[in-house]
Amino acid sequence: MPAEEFTFQTSGRGIGAMLLSNPGNPTGQCIEGEELKADVRTACESETAIVMDEFYSHYIYDGHDSVDPEDGGVDDDSNWPKTVSSASYIEDVNSDPVLIINGMTNNWRCPGFRVCWIVAPKPIVAILGSAGSYLDGGANAPLQRLSLPLMELDFIRRDTWALQRHFRQKRDFLLAELEKLDIRVKIKPEATFTFGPTCLLSQLLSMIVRSFKKNVSNTWSSLYQVSSLTSIQEAPATCDRVNVFPTFVSATGHQWRILLMA
Ligand SMILES: Cc1ncc(COP(=O)(O)O)c(C=O)c1O
Repeated sequence: MPAEEFTFQTSGRGIGAMLLSNPGNPTGQCIEGEELKADVRTACESETAIVMDEFYSHYIYDGHDSVDPEDGGVDDDSNWPKTVSSASYIEDVNSDPVLIINGMTNNWRCPGFRVCWIVAPKPIVAILGSAGSYLDGGANAPLQRLSLPLMELDFIRRDTWALQRHFRQKRDFLLAELEKLDIRVKIKPEATFTFGPTCLLSQLLSMIVRSFKKNVSNTWSSLYQVSSLTSIQEAPATCDRVNVFPTFVSATGHQWRILLMA
């Protein structure tokens, strides 16, 4: 959402809070830099809270000015991969109306931990803490303890470099495969691991037929498998899980969206 749109939506419309997934699932897009800064300032000025879901803040692929450790610098602890957070633009955590949610599920790839956290003004943290302990007793202690070593900054730095290299490879592989099938991806995903190609119904049907012929067990769950039947043998082993969010366009012009989770 452009900064002007954000200002328009938050001014005089009686909106008390806005929930944003940034970087965005399932769009694969990211608000960052001056635009993100402007959104945080608008929230402060209009007293509209923004709830920032930053579960994908490590999944950024483009716009790096640091050196991938593969090209040297793995032990240089000042060499950080690019990540995006609205935290960079908060001036006073206790008065700016920004609530940042993050957790182990995506950036740390530990969904089973059920551990997450919030950075927000103190009174809000207190309210959420008591609601959480009333509703389900809060996050379980053993898994919170297991999370602690994963919070070490050097671990996060190395892990995020590896994550970005791995998921960039998947994204680029899938984009190339979709292009071979003549399936358009209007907006290149720059973050997360979901995005929305558009294809004709005939292309969808042909993918399904090809997948049955090749005995792909779960057509609906893996466009990757279907789209890469001819090259799956040479595919890097790391490219076996990519989520896509395609829009299928029928001959009558109707569009269907199907979320494919690989
Ligand atoms: C946008 C977004 N926020 C948060 C989460 C984490 O949700 P949960 O920890 O409940 O699985 C996900 C999960 O994939 C997500 O896509």
